[in-house]
Amino acid sequence: MSSQLINGKEISNTIRTGIQKEVQDLIAKGITPGLAVILVGEDPASHTYVANKEKACKELGIYSKLIKLPEDTTEEDLLAQIKQLNEASEIDGILVQLPLPKQINEQKVIETISPLKDVDGFHPNSVGKMLLGQETFLPCTPHGIMKLLEYSNIEVAGKHAVVIGRSHIVGVPMGQLLLQHDATVTYCHSKTKNLQEMTKQADILVVAIGRAKMITADYIKEGAAVIDVGMNRDENNHLCGDVDFDSVVEKTSAITPVPGGVGPMTITMLMYNTVQSAKTKLA
Ligand code: GUN
Repeated sequence: MSSQLINGKEISNTIRTGIQKEVQDLIAKGITPGLAVILVGEDPASHTYVANKEKACKELGIYSKLIKLPEDTTEEDLLAQIKQLNEASEIDGILVQLPLPKQINEQKVIETISPLKDVDGFHPNSVGKMLLGQETFLPCTPHGIMKLLEYSNIEVAGKHAVVIGRSHIVGVPMGQLLLQHDATVTYCHSKTKNLQEMTKQADILVVAIGRAKMITADYIKEGAAVIDVGMNRDENNHLCGDVDFDSVVEKTSAITPVPGGVGPMTITMLMYNTVQSAKTKLA
């Protein structure tokens, strides 16, 4: 079967062009969208993600404020920073890069961010509204994946979507968004028995497990669309996904590469949320 390569970079660029135009319109009206990113500690992957977010802001004309804090930052200090940003009129979105050092309670941090500036969509307010199908900030990776499917003309309604992974950042909201678009959804995770039996039923398979190349052809139904959220290093230190691309590609009808699939979309949807937040100042 010939497979459609889902080009996340290209789709992301198309969406970014629209966002850039919206930023220009806002700036013309005296509103510059602003994103604050807080990075605590020295995790190298987090530093890379944050650098990419800064770059995207710059390219789109969004003001970005990066706050780097040391590894031994106390929870109290971090919460105080967030409260200041909640009040700062030049800031429309606040993102605290996860994971955080162990002395800091992540949930408490998330709940301190004003729901009005929760561009990650992780606050319980945002999560609740998402579950109810109400307008809110949607979490960037699952939202980006919905856009990948839409721009690739992959029908979701009536399809069996299988999501592997149940993180609050990706897996859980992913299943909910697919459900809202009328898919039949199955969640799989580390305690799932007979994983292959489950995944072989998937018309759309979303893989977010964090294990390099774990999903091989044996897990795939002929003609499935496969979305790989993984970002790992293989034995040669090359970036790779959770899906063994070379082994599965022939069986799929569509597949995302790593890199260049889901990754660029996450940042694009973060930019989108920041601009949506800034637009509330227009009223
Ligand atoms: N760490 C990995 N992914 C994310 C994300 O989408 N948002 C935040 N804040 N941290 C992350």
